[in-house]
Amino acid sequence: MECANTQAMQIGILTGGGDAPGLNGILEASCRTLLEAGHELLGIQDGFEGIFENRTQPIQLKDVEGIHSQAGTLLGTSNRSGTKGREEEFLSKYKALGVSGLIVAGGDGTFSALRSFGGAIPMIGVPKTIDNDLSGTEVTFGFDTACSVVAESVDRLRATAHAHRRVLVVEAMGRTAGWIALGGGVASYADVILIPERPFSRTELLTFIRRKQGKQRGLMVVISEGARASGEDASIAFSVAGSPQAERFGGAAYLLSRWIEKQTDWESRHVVLGHLQRSAYPTTTDRFMTASMGVEVARMVLEGSWDQAVVYREGRIVRAPITDLMGAPRLVEPGHRWVQLALALGGFI
Ligand code: F6P
Repeated sequence: MECANTQAMQIGILTGGGDAPGLNGILEASCRTLLEAGHELLGIQDGFEGIFENRTQPIQLKDVEGIHSQAGTLLGTSNRSGTKGREEEFLSKYKALGVSGLIVAGGDGTFSALRSFGGAIPMIGVPKTIDNDLSGTEVTFGFDTACSVVAESVDRLRATAHAHRRVLVVEAMGRTAGWIALGGGVASYADVILIPERPFSRTELLTFIRRKQGKQRGLMVVISEGARASGEDASIAFSVAGSPQAERFGGAAYLLSRWIEKQTDWESRHVVLGHLQRSAYPTTTDRFMTASMGVEVARMVLEGSWDQAVVYREGRIVRAPITDLMGAPRLVEPGHRWVQLALALGGFI
């Protein structure tokens, strides 16, 4: 949908799904550019809930100045609500807002919920998740920050692991994708990295650990929350009613740590990094990405280029059909170059 806009417009903006470091950068960059061009911004609170319940806030420059460095999202978000079965209500409540279109920063839950509206809601999509598993883009903002949290944690925990001659098992987020465990694990030279895309053999893992036992004081293991041994299921902690992906992973590090100690007699402890990976100040890499994406989104609004997304491809921020974000999760290829790197560093993966 293309039609360049010269008259002042009111544009809606919302953040949906789990928060990711950099969301505030998207808000600041896009709002600064659009406000400067003389348009109005209507912030929608708490994702889709703000549309259903008409909870909105006008955004002025003073509201967004400086927020790019903060974790979370100025507007609030939700990963519990969808539009399924309530499409008509959603559309009429959206229309009642009186906006010319929506800027939506979200993940797969958000975009699959919006799929049914086709062109009825003019939209520009911004892919967001720390998990780095959205289709249509090669990297999502928030991922670099999450990897930094993992890498810094492993590097710090190595000291106590060595002090006590222990195996430290660190659990990373990522759902069914191993990107965060892999990126954070390689960056911190972890001895063992376990990801969902490469179910591990318990026998081979034990052989590796026994080879290290006695040779080094501590052993650093990074396990993705969705990782599993061959022929077994990943550990689910609980379900969230109403969530597009109801099952929440949990327990992987605890279970592995207990198993390693029992099998090897090498004392072990576990640490679950959890939401520290999301609630973190965005790294410079993520800030550059969100500043570039936010400005590009504003340009698209100004040009009337709706129903597209901003994505990262081959080192650049480019535009793509919004439907590109609605595909199956982009998982780690089992032979990915980072997997090869972990192996070359002498690790088990
Ligand atoms: O999708 C982002 C993510 O942080 C996953 O890595 C994690 O499994 C999930 O969200 C946790 O969701 P919640 O915030 O509902 O606990």
